[in-house]
Formats: sequence, C-alpha cells, structure tokens
Amino acid sequence: MIKCITCGAEYDLGEIIYTCKECGSILEVTCEPDVSKDVFNCRKSTMWKYKEFMPVDPARIVTLEEGGTPFCKCDKLGEELGVELYVKVEGSNPTGSFKDRGMSVGITKAMELGVSTVGCASTGNTSASLAAYAARAGLRCVVLLPSGKVALGKLAQAMFHGAEVLSIRGNFDEALETVTALALEGKLYLLNSVNPFRLEGQKSIGFEIVDDLGWKSPDRIILPVGNAGNISAIWKGINEFHRAGFMEDLPMMTGIQAEGAAPIVRAIRENKKDIVPFENPETIATAIRIGAPVSALKAIRAINESGGFAETVTDEEILSAQKLLARTEGIGVEPASAASIAGLKKLVENGEVDKNEQVVCIVTGHLLKDPNTAIDACVKPVEIDADINELSRILSQG
Ligand code: F0G
Repeated sequence: MIKCITCGAEYDLGEIIYTCKECGSILEVTCEPDVSKDVFNCRKSTMWKYKEFMPVDPARIVTLEEGGTPFCKCDKLGEELGVELYVKVEGSNPTGSFKDRGMSVGITKAMELGVSTVGCASTGNTSASLAAYAARAGLRCVVLLPSGKVALGKLAQAMFHGAEVLSIRGNFDEALETVTALALEGKLYLLNSVNPFRLEGQKSIGFEIVDDLGWKSPDRIILPVGNAGNISAIWKGINEFHRAGFMEDLPMMTGIQAEGAAPIVRAIRENKKDIVPFENPETIATAIRIGAPVSALKAIRAINESGGFAETVTDEEILSAQKLLARTEGIGVEPASAASIAGLKKLVENGEVDKNEQVVCIVTGHLLKDPNTAIDACVKPVEIDADINELSRILSQG
C-alpha cells in the first residue's frame, strides 16, 4: 500500500503517483512483513539481504549488488572527538553513493510498471546512479542538472552511462519542479526521492547499521541532509526493524545542513512542522545545495520523534572535516558527506552530543565524485627528474 503521510489516504502499489491526490502531501510505502531475523542468516551482504522488507518482486530485481557497505570503527577520530565513532561508507556502493540503494528498488519498480523512460533532477549523484541502473535495465534516461553546479565525477558518470543530460539554467529546486511537471504529464517515471519507492531502498542503510551492531541501535545517527529523503528513509527502516522486534532502542536522528542551504535546521530551531524554502541556496557541498527539500515533512518528523537534532556547518568546517576524515582514518568522501563529521565535531563542542555516545556518521558519497574540490584543497605535487639523488634530497627534508 502507498499511504499519504498527512491525511492517511491510501493508494494501490501499482499506481504511478508521487503526491497525495486528496491533500497534496508526500507519500510512503507501508511495509510490515511478518518474518524472523533468522531469515537473513547466511545471505550475501547486499541490501537485498533484507528483501522481505522491499516492496518489489525479489525474483526480478535490477541490481548491481548495492549495499553491504563498510561500517568502519574509527577509534582515532572517535578519540579525538570524544565519542565512540562508526562511519558507514556509502561511497563504496556501485556508483559511489547511497543513491544506488534507492535506484535498485526504483528501477525494479519502473520495470514492474512497464515504463520506458525514467528521469530525475539532480545535484549529481542521483543522476549518476539513475543513469547506471537505467542502462542495466535498458530504459531511456533523462536527467536535469543545475548548470555549472555538478561535480565533475558525477557528470562524467551520468554522461558515460548514456543518460540524456540536460543542463538547466537554474538551481536544483527549479530543475526538480520542471521534471516533476513533466512526470505528472506521464512523459517519464520520476525517480527523485519524492517517489516513495526510492526511500524503500535507502532505508536499508538503517537495517545494516542495526545488523552490524549486533541487532542494537546506536545512540545517534548523523548524516548530511539535502532533499531530506535519506534521513527519512533511515528512520523508516529503523522503525520497521523496531516494530518487527529485532531491536529495543532507537537512535537520535541528527541532520546536518550547509549554512547556506539549511531550511530544515531553521524549521527545527523555530519549532515548525514544515520549512520555508531558502530561495538562493549556496554551498561548496553542491550535493546538498538545495533550498526546498521535498521530504522536509518526513525529515522534521524523524528528527522530532527520535529526540534528535539539526545543525548547520560552514563550508570551511565541511572542508576541514573532509580532510580530517581522509587523513586520520583513510576514508575519502565528497564535501557533502563530510558534513556529518563536521556536524559531529560541532555538536560535541557545544555539548549537544554527550561524550562517550555511540555515534554512527553516514558518509554518503566517494571522494572521487568531486576531484576538483579535492585537488584545490591540496598542495601541488613537486615535479622532479627521475634521479635518485634529487629524490633522496627531497625525502631527507622530511
Ligand atoms: N550526500 C550526498 C553525497 C548527496 O548526493 C545527497 C543528495 C545528500 C547527501 C543528501 O541526501 O537529499 O536524501 O537529503 N543528493 C541528491 C542528488 C539531491 O541529486 O544527487 P538527501
């Protein structure tokens, strides 16, 4: 069943629908399988390990074996920040971001529905992922990207996997509005996270965290928030495991936004149930350069229900956390992903996160997604002759 999160109106799983016909609010897929967690034993470590919780036919899935990503205990960084820290490395997914989980379910659904064209607006990663999964399924793929604001690696992926790439004179929010209008005319199947099937895949991040911790909840999960789908999805997944009796406690969901694109943080601070959009969102973390997140209602609910928090970080804090994670733990992430680490650092410093909390930071995309920002943050390589004496001289400088 597809259900409106505001008025509760219900729709059939086979209906192509993105928002409620009764009240216009956003939708979610209801999913309450009656299974024991023993069924997961001995299954391959991909997100399809939890297939009973996925609302598609498991016999016909379109998959690149997404999920099952590293869950790294980060003792050095944890000690520096004063918490017990785990980092969930979503850059290890097939196209280098968590979007692959949602696309696997979304494209499987598209095949079930028999559509021929899929599309999305994107700050980059959604388009890279959609392009790859559409290629695997043999579907036509159209992606709308904000001109000049998509990191190089993501653009390369979308183009190389054969998507029709349209560069929009405008920002992500405007691109999403345009492609949604086209989807409502039935011209393509929309695979942004307003499509509730996308979030069904992404909720598996929550499943894996709980499974990796031995069927326990961490005290807190921290992640970057842009269009607000992922935080909503993870909270949904955790609650499904909780209702299934697989775990006892629940984590505090904590969302981090860039200072220049922070409508959800503002809503939480002002104790509002919905956002007022940021008209001109701006941040170096282009993945989360979003002013009007479509899943805001779900995200605000997740943060409030879980007793979590929302905080902003500056571009400077993001870049410094990106380097800190890369150099203390060897985990390379794109700027938006580092917002979770930057946020953790800030929340420990201001006392919002208690010392010794068990914290999971989700890092959402790979370092190589945005090579330009990475190179700009480093000193240039020294050019030398292939000469042992010159090399020794340089090494002796320490
Ligand atoms: N981190 C990365 C690397 C992202 O690409 C995104 C979103 C987010 C975090 C935020 O996740 O939107 O679920 O709150 N990227 C989208 C895209 C918008 O088009 O690739 P969210």
